[in-house]
Amino acid sequence: MNQPVMGGVAAVNAPAFVKHQKLINWVAEIAALTKPDRIYWCDGSQEEYDRLCAEMVAAGTMKKLNQEKRPNSYLACSDPSDVARVEDRTFICSQDKLDAGPTNNWTDPAEMRKTLHGLFDGCMRGRTLYVVPFSMGPLGSPIAHIGVELSDSPYVAVNMRIMTRMGKAVYDVLGTDGEFVPCVHSVGAPLAAGQKDVAWPCNSTKYIVHYPETREIWSFGSGYGGNALLGKKCFALRIASTMGRDEGWLAEHMLILGVESPAGKKHYVAAAFPSACGKTNFAMLIPPATMGGWKVTTIGDDIAWIKPGEDGRLYAINPEAGYFGVAPGTNEKTNFNCMASLRANTIFTNVALTDDGDVWWEGMTKEAPAHLIDWQGKDWTPAIAKESGRKAAHPNARFTVAATQNPVIDSAWDDPAGVPISAFIFGGRRSTTVPLVTEARNWVEGVYMAATMGSETTAAAVGQQGVVRRDPFAMLPFAGYNMSDYFQHWLNIGKKIAASPAELPKIYCVNWFRTDADGKFVWPGFGDNMRVLKWMLERIEDPQGIRVGGVEHIFGVSPRFEDLQWDGLEFSRAQFDTITSIDKAAWAQEVVLHTELFDKLKHHLPKELEAVKAKLEKQLA
Ligand code: GTP
Ligand code: SPV
Ligand code: MN
Repeated sequence: MNQPVMGGVAAVNAPAFVKHQKLINWVAEIAALTKPDRIYWCDGSQEEYDRLCAEMVAAGTMKKLNQEKRPNSYLACSDPSDVARVEDRTFICSQDKLDAGPTNNWTDPAEMRKTLHGLFDGCMRGRTLYVVPFSMGPLGSPIAHIGVELSDSPYVAVNMRIMTRMGKAVYDVLGTDGEFVPCVHSVGAPLAAGQKDVAWPCNSTKYIVHYPETREIWSFGSGYGGNALLGKKCFALRIASTMGRDEGWLAEHMLILGVESPAGKKHYVAAAFPSACGKTNFAMLIPPATMGGWKVTTIGDDIAWIKPGEDGRLYAINPEAGYFGVAPGTNEKTNFNCMASLRANTIFTNVALTDDGDVWWEGMTKEAPAHLIDWQGKDWTPAIAKESGRKAAHPNARFTVAATQNPVIDSAWDDPAGVPISAFIFGGRRSTTVPLVTEARNWVEGVYMAATMGSETTAAAVGQQGVVRRDPFAMLPFAGYNMSDYFQHWLNIGKKIAASPAELPKIYCVNWFRTDADGKFVWPGFGDNMRVLKWMLERIEDPQGIRVGGVEHIFGVSPRFEDLQWDGLEFSRAQFDTITSIDKAAWAQEVVLHTELFDKLKHHLPKELEAVKAKLEKQLA
């Protein structure tokens, strides 16, 4: 661990198991630029994980939780300025600005390289550079891709061990000349000789930068989530989406779940909801007991890589190995499987600490504990909260946990062949306008629904909360290239499947979040979302809609009250009407927003999508 510092340059000291000279040279080059005190090559072992965590406990970055209540678990609390993804500091630096498109921040790559070179020069002084080798997707599988993250954050190293297949075995796959995506990360807080470190180092200047042509990622100034765990949004979505464009596959912000009917018929569906809009919850939902034997299992909760198979169907894998999920709102009732996953071996970030060394967050229990230490280290009581509105946990507080701890993990979750997708679901957080569920009448109409989707912003990204914005395919912050080209790519995939013997997956649009006059959610959500999922699956099995009904409207096909199973739920026709009604005036307004989006995206916008909009406008007129 403590390699000698020689003449101010840390020795590279690559272990014998690293046989990739180009990788070793790159590490040396980045070390020469960033000037860490030490270089440490992660092997991914449990011993290493425990040691890095112990070091972070000693340094004050993490607290070890009560071993009886929450075995082998930790709490990290970030700097209050570093709590979520920073979309306005995220850049796609393609050679051609048009290629990044109007929805991404762009800077000329040569100029960005100059800026970053200045920022990274000496940025790791006083720190250790961790070499973190990881595989997105099962190790060695043809669908997987390898990355190496060089980071000065031990918090990143231990989180990457949970979130990805991280460690020594990656070097075996890489061999002497395998391909990898280079990811450079610094918290941007060099230490002068003798300077005491802070618990959560970071920098108010932040850059999350992607060079799609050279498949490189450079991240500066943040230690939090998707800003810093570069395998996730940066690699598995932004860089991978450009790989997918070039190679004919899809990298999507989607959960993947398996669902088995009481008769034993199994389907897999993939669903894209924007950040903090319900993917983790939907991926591991427990169907109501009164629905008689439906079973849901999880393939993934955030990202799907989807490739056409030999038979023409689309096959999806989850490239991740863990969940970095939203804590607030999670409880035994809403998501039992998630709570069970978190019983041990979990890293919590920005939740509150109980007096007996466990964790708590808003929504975990009906009654809050009498006293807590909140995520900012301050005393917290229900009375203080009532008076000040101060939350015990940050709204974007998260847990990091291995997928294998999920009691309903699907048996095929790390099958390199992936699972065949029967349906795609798109859903935003909309208090008005958008009905509970709508089936697209065809692929193009489905692509249109996904492309024009709106959602209220959440705490997952820094910025104003609760404002409706267009979030095409839930990929607004994650598409690594021009959004219109991305739409075209989806249309092309549809054409390819249509030309094969395979069925096209059906496409649905959902909204769990319609509210009543008091601003309360009308739909119970969570496990009861199974009622909607069941309707979809029965439609898939009965494509002509002979046995499973629905009503056609301007936007697509939605179930009538009598088309859903209601056993075990008190839900009136009036309530159903509140969340399914199509208000023509509201939709006329909505389509104005579609038009605004299409104006913005007019370069390369597929004509087919404009035609769907024209049809919609005509029906509304
Ligand atoms: P990211 O990890 O940011 O991509 O989020 P996600 O899409 O996985 O969202 P997640 O499942 O973590 O849910 C975010 C928040 O929405 C949590 O507070 C949940 O409790 C809440 N939520 C999830 N599903 C539902 C639902 O069906 N109804 C309601 N009312 N809330 C939900
Ligand atoms: C999201 O914001 O969609 C997340 C969390 O899944 S993060 O890893 O921070 O991107
Ligand atoms: Mn996400």
